[in-house]
Amino acid sequence: MLYKKVIYLVFIRPLEINCVYFYYLIEKLWGVLLQCYWEKKLQINTSYICEDKQDGSRFQDQNLYSALPYPTLFKMLEIIKLKADDVLVDLGCGAGRVVIFAAREGIKEAIGVELRKSQVESARINLSSPKTCNLPVTIIHQDAADYLPYRGNIFYMLEPFGPDTTKKVLANIQHSLEQNPRQIKILLYHNKVRLLLDMSSFLKFKGHLADTGILLYTNF
Ligand SMILES: C[S@@+](CC[C@H](N)C(=O)[O-])C[C@H]1O[C@@H](n2cnc3c(N)ncnc32)[C@H](O)[C@@H]1O
Repeated sequence: MLYKKVIYLVFIRPLEINCVYFYYLIEKLWGVLLQCYWEKKLQINTSYICEDKQDGSRFQDQNLYSALPYPTLFKMLEIIKLKADDVLVDLGCGAGRVVIFAAREGIKEAIGVELRKSQVESARINLSSPKTCNLPVTIIHQDAADYLPYRGNIFYMLEPFGPDTTKKVLANIQHSLEQNPRQIKILLYHNKVRLLLDMSSFLKFKGHLADTGILLYTNF
């Protein structure tokens, strides 16, 4: 039996590791190709490192900017199948990648809430290109903790802030449902705060969106 173990460790295991590494590299390369293609086509720039590290948020738990990778974004849009009357809210929208591509799906409106001024400016520049300026996107310069989301029915969060702001955001969404009862979905890419959504009295966990790392919660 020992010789089988040795053969596995010497010949098979390195191949397995190389396959995983190779797959990872292909995924990365595909992401870069999609990024180059779409950013050139739409004349936008959402792929950069934000140097502005100041935290002006009420609860001092603001995370830095990084955009949802293009392959994951397209997978998410393919799975959630947006409808003409949907209003998607990206809480912490950064340079606007998700709101731009959601709006291109033909929804009623995409709203991006962003606190960092430099990011708001980038998002607005990205929305002034000839290919994006007619999209139904609104960028709101505000702390997500203070945003009252009466209109949205799909809320998306990609690791924007910590638990304190998340708690307040959930309370605001719940309050908005009392004022304006409706069916909502929350798309969360942030495992560190998922417990808050799991414990919330008005949300139900509906599962993962396949291969994206995004969790889906609804109130129905
Ligand atoms: C990880 S980026 C996500 C960008 C975008 N949603 C995406 O998926 O491509 C998080 C963004 O949330 C913003 N943010 C952090 N705390 C915030 C807050 N309290 N209110 C509004 N925006 C916030 C950050 O400035 C950053 O641009």
